[in-house]
Amino acid sequence: MAIAQFLPSSRSDQYLLGAILAIVAVFVYKTILSRSPRAKAESANSVPSSPTEQKSERPSGAWVPQQYDYPTITPSPDPLSLKPIPYRPFRWGAFHVVMDLRSMPSDEWIEIDSQFTHFAKIRETRMDARGDRVIRTLPASAGVGSGTSAAVELLYELAEYLHRRYPTMYSVTRHSTEKSTYGWYGEGDIETITVAPLNRTFTLGEGDPLRIVTMLIQEDLAIMIEGEDGRYYFQAGTVCNAGTWRLEDKIGMPLEDIHTSGGVPRYKSNLEISMTRYFRRMNIDKPTTRNNYSFQVVRPSTNPFPDLDPSELGWAASMKGDEDLIEHEGRRWLTDTDSSLPEISNDNAELTEVEPSMIWLRSERETLRRLPRTGAIIFTIRVYQTPLVELVKEPGVPGRIASAIRSWPEDVAIYRAKNAFEGILDYLDECHAKQIAEGLNVEEVSKPFPY
Ligand code: HEM
Repeated sequence: MAIAQFLPSSRSDQYLLGAILAIVAVFVYKTILSRSPRAKAESANSVPSSPTEQKSERPSGAWVPQQYDYPTITPSPDPLSLKPIPYRPFRWGAFHVVMDLRSMPSDEWIEIDSQFTHFAKIRETRMDARGDRVIRTLPASAGVGSGTSAAVELLYELAEYLHRRYPTMYSVTRHSTEKSTYGWYGEGDIETITVAPLNRTFTLGEGDPLRIVTMLIQEDLAIMIEGEDGRYYFQAGTVCNAGTWRLEDKIGMPLEDIHTSGGVPRYKSNLEISMTRYFRRMNIDKPTTRNNYSFQVVRPSTNPFPDLDPSELGWAASMKGDEDLIEHEGRRWLTDTDSSLPEISNDNAELTEVEPSMIWLRSERETLRRLPRTGAIIFTIRVYQTPLVELVKEPGVPGRIASAIRSWPEDVAIYRAKNAFEGILDYLDECHAKQIAEGLNVEEVSKPFPY
């Protein structure tokens, strides 16, 4: 039988057949390509997309564990030889309260540097001294699951990630592949992890998983669990060096209350809707990051732990007062401008005098990642402190800080306790003028955000 018999005779039928053949060819090509080793390697690196998505149609609070092709992690140089990353996330010009999230390569989830042991000492001391006021896992309550399974999953995820990312610092032993619930790439579960600079080995199945987590990294973190009402609840976490807020005040709260209870400026108008939507839809293969900053006064005469923690990393006592007071005295700097806050006497005039040498930048790097098994969203917060007197030596930075502080709207300025340190504006202007006089070209030295 001649093939021509089956070919369409009219011109429009010929076009139709041509289109069908083109679609089939593209489909066959893509199928072959997706089976090639290169495509497999790429998918391992770039992580899968649609199969991992759980669309917003799923019932609230219900998460089906997801299969996740873990990305390849590129090893970093020895982290103990790395200086803290100089995040300078202040911009020239107008200030906007927005989510400001950027996508984050999976490699960069956790940042470790030469300050690791300094952080570890402060974090461990605070856990020992303050117990569940800084580290806690809540049981299930009406409409919200417990944080326990997510804390376990997080510990295994971190151990898998950390020893690959920082092989000079962490090493692991494993169970056989018969016990492989959390092992990446089908390997047996990690049994122990050793942290070289601490000379300590932790057994993953023993004790509070979050306590081990706290000793593995420099980040504080919050485990957020979706409730049946669709909101995300702070069900477990370790907050040892947030400086200005306490886990004990926020644990168990949904995302909205965490922010509104602290008076985060413009939360309702600028953040709530986008954050609610973002958390609900977040995929396991799309981690994100954001940066934030504030300035901190550190007064040696009022620092309760000058030897352990000279820069008040753990708790900003010079600004907030005694950590154990219910309404932190630190509001002392706000009472002039915010009459809604309780009046707290500040009869020590010496406390109002602030020298540039007492000011520190508190630069924050935060990350968000959803865990595949429990669906919990992990929010990490890493703090980088730099003395102002060092910062002003960086080209273009004093001018940029002054511009940023001046751009804060009134509500942001009150929230960030600007009146505690606004005297430094003159000093910043002087440093900027000096840099200009020495030939600084602001355009030339400006780096992309957040540096
Ligand atoms: C997309 C995610 C998030 C965004 C965009 C966001 C945004 C913000 C902003 C703009 C502030 C005010 C900071 C400032 O102006 O200096 C803030 C404060 C804060 N955020 Fe978030 N946040 C996010 C997620 C979370 C999560 C998951 C937690 C969980 C614990 C959290 C806990 C806090 C706390 C405790 C404060 C301080 C509140 C206070 O002063 O009492 N945030 N956040």
